[in-house]
Amino acid sequence: MKHENSDRILPATSEAMARALTILGNGGLVAVPTETVYGLAADATNGEAVAGIFSAKGRPQFNPLICHVSSLEMAQEYAVFDAASLALAKAFWPGPLTLVLPLKKDTKIHPLVTAGLDTIGLRFPKGLTAELIAQYGKPLAAPSANSSGKISPTTALAVYQSLGNKVDLILDDGPCAVGLESTIVKVSAGTATILRPGGITLSDLRKMSHLNLLEAEANASIQAPGMMASHYAPNALMRLNAEKLLEGEALLAFGPHRINGADKAATLLNLSPSGDLIEAAANLFSMMSELDNSGVAKIAVEPITMSGIGVAINDRLKRAAAPRDSDHE
Ligand code: TXA
Ligand code: MG
Repeated sequence: MKHENSDRILPATSEAMARALTILGNGGLVAVPTETVYGLAADATNGEAVAGIFSAKGRPQFNPLICHVSSLEMAQEYAVFDAASLALAKAFWPGPLTLVLPLKKDTKIHPLVTAGLDTIGLRFPKGLTAELIAQYGKPLAAPSANSSGKISPTTALAVYQSLGNKVDLILDDGPCAVGLESTIVKVSAGTATILRPGGITLSDLRKMSHLNLLEAEANASIQAPGMMASHYAPNALMRLNAEKLLEGEALLAFGPHRINGADKAATLLNLSPSGDLIEAAANLFSMMSELDNSGVAKIAVEPITMSGIGVAINDRLKRAAAPRDSDHE
């Protein structure tokens, strides 16, 4: 397969952006770069286009999709903001934060986007995709641009490797800076509940001293509907918090110190030789894919600090290592 030569991957020039707008207007699918991961975008007001997202991903259930906007004003057309959600949006938008808020009545958002819920997940991403949305003038529904249950793509090539010609155009703006999906926070009756850890850390959120914050990790029953146990699944089995390397394993390392037996690793990649969690997050999905593509049966993962964005890294690793079933997003 000569993915590199796919004419679906275009550097994000103004011509490519214009082509993306035409495709979106015709109900097609465009993979878009965001600061977190690449998204598979369609016009959120076009039901057939949104249905196309589910079929391209092979997503077995109609889980709600995040609606991407290009301003707080655009978001306010679709959701009811209170003081807490307004403060969160002002503090972290544009950025890796998704707010789940009460959906306004009689909006043009297609019900498939919200899976018929009375809430909507909204995110104002950084950079090029926000520009695209501003030019389009309507929100874009976009899940991560990978096949159902697989690793989220942080490069244009990874999108193509996962979805191939099911996507009409892939806008290439280089590797994603954050590398992990957005933090999802549901705001209801003044309480902000973290549904998924991600690019905005707990300590970022805790700095907002007036916020009534509920941490979902302490309450496993509170989750986004799409948060299946098995997700981000590579073909290889994953063994987390490895204390020594076992025969035949590849090693996903972290930091300056190696576990016992590391020198015998089939392949070794280090998420961050200096132990920088932000660098590790940015490298996580691409290194997991690279080790997986090397054809090993098992990947051992060194322990990764549970602080800052390390919480989200460990969340994704746990899902990647979970027993596989067919019921994933
Ligand atoms: O960083 C990100 O969030 C990326 C980029 C592309 O923006 N998107 C992403 O989308 O990760 P996806 O579809 O892979 O994950 C969206 C999650 C799902 O777990 C879904 O259940 C949850 O958001 N979600 C969306 N709308 C929701 C709602 N109204 N209530 C609760 N959860 C919601
Ligand atoms: Mg996803």
